[in-house]
Amino acid sequence: MKKLLPEGEAEQIAEIFASRYGFRLARGGRADLALALAQEAKSHNFSCEALAAAILDGSAPPGAVEKIAEKLTIGETYFFRHPEQFKAAEALYLQNRIARKREMGDRTLRIWSAACSTGEEAYSLAMLAVRSIPDSKDWKIEILGTDLAPRFLETAREGEYGAWSFRGVPEEIKRAFFEEDATQSLAPNPNPRLRVKQEIKDLVRFSRLNLKSHHWLVPNRPLSGFDMVFCRNVLIYFDREASVEILWKIRSYMAKDSCLVVSPSELALVPIDVGKQFRHQGASVFLVNSGHTHKKVGKSMPASATPAARRPRRTVAKVEAKVQAASPGPPPDPKFYYLAALEALEKGDDPQAHAALIRTLYMDPDFIPAHIALGNAAGQEGRKKDAVRHLSIALELLASMEDSAPVQESGGMSAKGLRDMVESILAMTRGG
Ligand SMILES: C[S@@+](CC[C@H](N)C(=O)[O-])C[C@H]1O[C@@H](n2cnc3c(N)ncnc32)[C@H](O)[C@@H]1O
Repeated sequence: MKKLLPEGEAEQIAEIFASRYGFRLARGGRADLALALAQEAKSHNFSCEALAAAILDGSAPPGAVEKIAEKLTIGETYFFRHPEQFKAAEALYLQNRIARKREMGDRTLRIWSAACSTGEEAYSLAMLAVRSIPDSKDWKIEILGTDLAPRFLETAREGEYGAWSFRGVPEEIKRAFFEEDATQSLAPNPNPRLRVKQEIKDLVRFSRLNLKSHHWLVPNRPLSGFDMVFCRNVLIYFDREASVEILWKIRSYMAKDSCLVVSPSELALVPIDVGKQFRHQGASVFLVNSGHTHKKVGKSMPASATPAARRPRRTVAKVEAKVQAASPGPPPDPKFYYLAALEALEKGDDPQAHAALIRTLYMDPDFIPAHIALGNAAGQEGRKKDAVRHLSIALELLASMEDSAPVQESGGMSAKGLRDMVESILAMTRGG
């Protein structure tokens, strides 16, 4: 592919995006950056080089850098993603919290979906709250969804979604909280777009917030006193230092005795002092007692609450899902890239397979077989650290599944079967 930017400039611009937005753009991501830059340059009648130079000397047209950043974001999400985490949050925290608040005569509940993308997570949290509070009409429930990308927030505010957002969502939830758009075509449609019911929409507000910025400001909403914060599938794109800083900052906006939830693949990024990790049916949440900010996790913790083994972070870089941005339909399935990787492996084309596996994880950071394949490949190439990292992530994800649950694209293996297999590969890798 023709290089749109000289290496030196690409490097400097990538640095700007890393420091302003947290994106780490590795080599693969540079092509996406160049593409986003070229698209933005065109809309200003600039050449690519001219816009690059303007960004570097600080004279870029207003909003251009933000527009490029927006193009580099990946908004992959769906309702009740990682349902086991919602169940864990409910069982380990929400039920108690609501009962305690009721006793105290406090009928408020504040939840924040930080990096909410197109809003599915924020609305899921509103639905969870309403289901957990039978007299929810008498409560003041406030859900805040924030994200960097205005185009995602627009979709979130509209609150209307296609089938792609409902992967695995039970019919009962759809019936309770969604309605069909009456203005749609009268022809029968097995997968109509569904709109979030108004009573749920009324609980949720969306606002733009760059988690990497120094000052967090949300108009008309106090950014404080959150009972629960979901900050999932965004920290993976930042370097460890930025992730840790963001988590501490989020913690400072949380109420005393609150609950923090990050995705299974981000557990290792949560500093031990931020909260105590508790597990429920394989899923983790962190219980935060802001009154004891620096309390260390002590030996007296129950075995079920011990922090999961800290594993090294992933280095999957953030790139634009350009295919997604370019097509109005549902985003491409990560399975497509995974199958392409298997095909490349069969042909012995390791670099191609590696690229396709990385692409699979760009689309879905929780795609277990892709982690296993990358772990195996790294092991074979003697890159022990990478191998351990990917296999440990696979194990962590498998640990959050029911033993008998089938794992997608694993040739019909159950979570338990695959877990046993990965454990033994990991033991061999560590020992070798
Ligand atoms: C993969 S989505 C995660 C959505 C949802 N939390 C989930 O887990 O399904 C990642 C989101 O992070 C947002 N994001 C990326 N960098 C950000 C930043 N610096 N500040 C706020 N949001 C950011 C992206 O715009 C994108 O919507």
